[in-house]
This record gives sequence, C-alpha cells and structure tokens, in this order.
Amino acid sequence: MKVEYLNTPDMGKARRRTSEVDTVDYSYVPSEDLKSRFVGKKVYVRTYGCQANIRDEETMLGLLSTIGVTPTENKSEAEIAILNTCAVRENAEDKVYAEIGEFKHYKHKNKNLILILCGCMVEQKHIVDDVLAKFPHVDIFFGTHDVQDLLKLLDLYIHKKQRYIDVSSKEGSIIENLPVKRLDNAKAFVNITYGCDKFCTYCIVPYTRGKERSRNAKDILKECRELVKQGYQEITLLGQNVDAYGKDLVGGLSFAELLDEVAKLGIPRLRFLTSYPTDFKDEVIDVMAKHDNIMKYLHFPIQSGSDDILKKMGRRYTSEQYLEIVRKIREKIPNIALSTDIIVGFPNETYEDVQKTIDVALKADYSSAFTFIYSPRNGTPAAKLVDNVTNEEKVKRFKELVKALEVNFEKHANEMVGTIQKVLVDGPSKKNKEILSGYTESNKVVNFKGSSDLIGKIINVKITESHVYSLTGEIVNE
Ligand code: 5AD
Ligand code: SF4
Repeated sequence: MKVEYLNTPDMGKARRRTSEVDTVDYSYVPSEDLKSRFVGKKVYVRTYGCQANIRDEETMLGLLSTIGVTPTENKSEAEIAILNTCAVRENAEDKVYAEIGEFKHYKHKNKNLILILCGCMVEQKHIVDDVLAKFPHVDIFFGTHDVQDLLKLLDLYIHKKQRYIDVSSKEGSIIENLPVKRLDNAKAFVNITYGCDKFCTYCIVPYTRGKERSRNAKDILKECRELVKQGYQEITLLGQNVDAYGKDLVGGLSFAELLDEVAKLGIPRLRFLTSYPTDFKDEVIDVMAKHDNIMKYLHFPIQSGSDDILKKMGRRYTSEQYLEIVRKIREKIPNIALSTDIIVGFPNETYEDVQKTIDVALKADYSSAFTFIYSPRNGTPAAKLVDNVTNEEKVKRFKELVKALEVNFEKHANEMVGTIQKVLVDGPSKKNKEILSGYTESNKVVNFKGSSDLIGKIINVKITESHVYSLTGEIVNE
C-alpha cells in the first residue's frame, strides 16, 4: 500500500526551543462518509506509559464518540485499533512491538480493521521506519502533537486507502475544546502543562512531547469547574514538570496560585504530578498545607542520591539540596507521604553511587517509589555514553535498592494500622473480584469488603492489616 507522509518525525526539530506557543480551538468537521462508515462500530485502545498518554486516550475516545464509535476491550470486535505508545524505556517499546505482531491475526480476521500507532514511540523516525518496513498491517501513524488529527486521518484513509504518517515533531501548540470521554467516573486528569524543557540526559520526553508549555488558567479552571459540576471526586493536575507552570505565560498564574484556585473550586480531592525538586516553590507547600482537599501526598522524583550521577543525569540539584526541600515540606506538612522515581545502572554508576542513593532515599523516608533500570534512549545525550554497567549488576543493584526502600514502605503502611482512612473506592480489586479496592488520601491502596454501589464514593475504612504495597481494611460508618 502507498505511504503518504503528511509530517515526518524529526528528533532534531523536536529538540528545538524557539517558537512561540499558539493556542487554537479544535474545529475539524468529519465527513458524512466517515460518520456513516463508523457509526455503531467499536474501537480498541491500548495505552502504555504515563498519565499524559491516558489523557490522550480520553481525547481520542472523545473524538471517536462524535462519529458514533464506542470503546471495547475485545480486539476481535474492533473496527479501529489504536496502540498509544510509550518510549521512556526499551521494555515498554518491546511490549508494543509484541502487540503490533498480535494484530496481524485480527487484521486477517477483519480486513476492514484499521490499525493505528500513536504516542511517544512514533516520534522517533527509526521506529516509524522499522514498523513501516516490518508491519504492513499498521495503517496510520500519528505523533503526540497530532492527536487532534485522528478524525482527519481516518477521513483521508477511508477515501484513499493508503498508509498515512502524521508526526509533526514540532515544539508544540495547545489545542483547546477537544472532546473527551473520561475513563473513570470519579477520578479525572487535567493537563496544565505539556512537554518538558528539562532535558535530563537519559530522558526522551522533551523530544517526544516537545516544548514546555502552559495552558491558560481560564481553560484549566473551566475544565475543573465542569468536573466538579459533574460530581467528580478527584482531580489530578498533570504536567511533566508542574512547577514550571506559568513560566511561559505573560502575567499568568504561578503553579502555587493555580493550585490554590483549583482547590477553591471544591473538588473533594486534588493531586498533582510531577514535581521537579529545584522548581518546587515554598508557596506550593503553603497552598498544600492550607487546603484540606489537596492530598498530603507528593511525588518527588530524586532519580539518584549520588551527586556525581545527578550531575551526569543533568538533574539540577545535589542530594543535600533535595533533602533540604524534603525537610521544609515535612516541617510544614508533617503527615505528608512522599514518593519518588529512581533509576539504577546509569552509565558509569558505581556500587558506591547506589549506596549513596540508598542512604539518601532512607533519609527522605518514602512511602512508595517507582524504581527503574536505566535504558539508553536513542538521540538522548546519555545514549552516547557507554552503557557500561552489566545487566546482571543492574539487576543486583535494583534488587538491593528495592529491598532497602521496602523497609520504609512497610513502616509507613504499618503506622496506618488501627487508623480510620478516607478511601475513594475505585472498583473490584485486581486480584479478587469479591473485594473492593481504593486509595487513601496518602495514595496507598486499600482492599476491603463492600458492595459495588460504593464505587466512586469516598468512605471511611479502618485499616486492619498492612503489607509492603497495600493495606487491608473494613468499612466503618462514621
Ligand atoms: N531509563 C530508565 N528510566 C527512565 N526514566 C526516564 N527515562 C528513563 C530511562 N532512559 C524514568 C525516570 C522518570 C520516570 C517517568 O521514568 O525515573 O522520572
Ligand atoms: Fe524527563 Fe527530566 Fe523532563 Fe522528567 S524532568 S520528563 S525525567 S526530562
């Protein structure tokens, strides 16, 4: 099948930070043919990676709902399949490749199935070239800046039946007024910034998601107000670096001011992700302390506790500075639960560096953490360094780190036994459908018995047992 490039991925272009950001309203009008071709049909979407991708899935589902397409988890009944990919580590990419392979079978069964690859992987030219060559059954490719083109691309495809590639790899603009179909009835994600300008040396995100840019506060507040009106219980404000919010706006709000404004709208629970230590302002701590509805939980990635490695990672703080910020946070919000991201096995990392990481992590006293083995990403500065820590050594360091962190996870979980916690009920637990599960304000999973009409509500649960990664409890009526 013929291949048409509407836009070609280009990491060089994606690295640039020069142009102004424009905010535009979504306005595409789908053809009548598109509507009649798809009305009543199903879409299968598989999203990999972070919350930004989940929010993109919700936009795609919103766009498709305007032409009468509804979601399915059953690949066999899908007329459109979308793989919304993540490029942050190689193992995420491997899983996508495996799923693309699986779709050969479904495409064989349903010749009309349209297979779409989108998200961060597609921003890398070598991946698009590879998939184009190896998997002729992938029909449409679009990048993270091109989500709003979904219906346009489908329109082009049904009229011309050729493979389309639309990956603009630009610095980025902001598109408002896109339709949305949220995946959860109680918890919602709201983007406040897109992209990232930090360029940590190991990270692909500044290339795949483009320039750091803030949405106008009025658009964010409008979305949040709507969510409150619809009865949502929790909002998570999203950005690769939320602390950079407003830097690019003239006369706009700072992140602390925005957080304050959103909290005042009266959403029962407010969270935000992700914070960058040296951009994190004292005012944010004050706003968090001031509002009961801002959850006393902070995801605060350190990445490494070795100053040498932090420098090589391009992180702009020392372990001492990091711990000083933690001290300030705990002083004003003593009951805060901290979580983090840590990478082990960065090039030239020594065993001593890992010991430093463990030492700093124990001092920061995390309640939870996401730990990763370093994965070289094509086109990033770190990928040019020799990846000289052996796999075996990386795994050994990883296990040692996790074991050390778990001591604190367990301690914090144990401290909750006997307390009554407010829990937002998510749904049946993953492991046992008879049991409900939900999150405490401090973001710990709690499993308990209860009826399904509690889903989406905030209830009181007495914690009866603690484990390293979860809690068990029973509902109390207080
Ligand atoms: N290898 C391993 N982990 C990575 N992360 C980002 N890039 C890489 C990489 N190349 C981790 C960081 C980040 C989290 C989302 O993913 O810890 O905070
Ligand atoms: Fe990646 Fe660093 Fe930006 Fe986080 S702050 S998205 S780790 S470049």
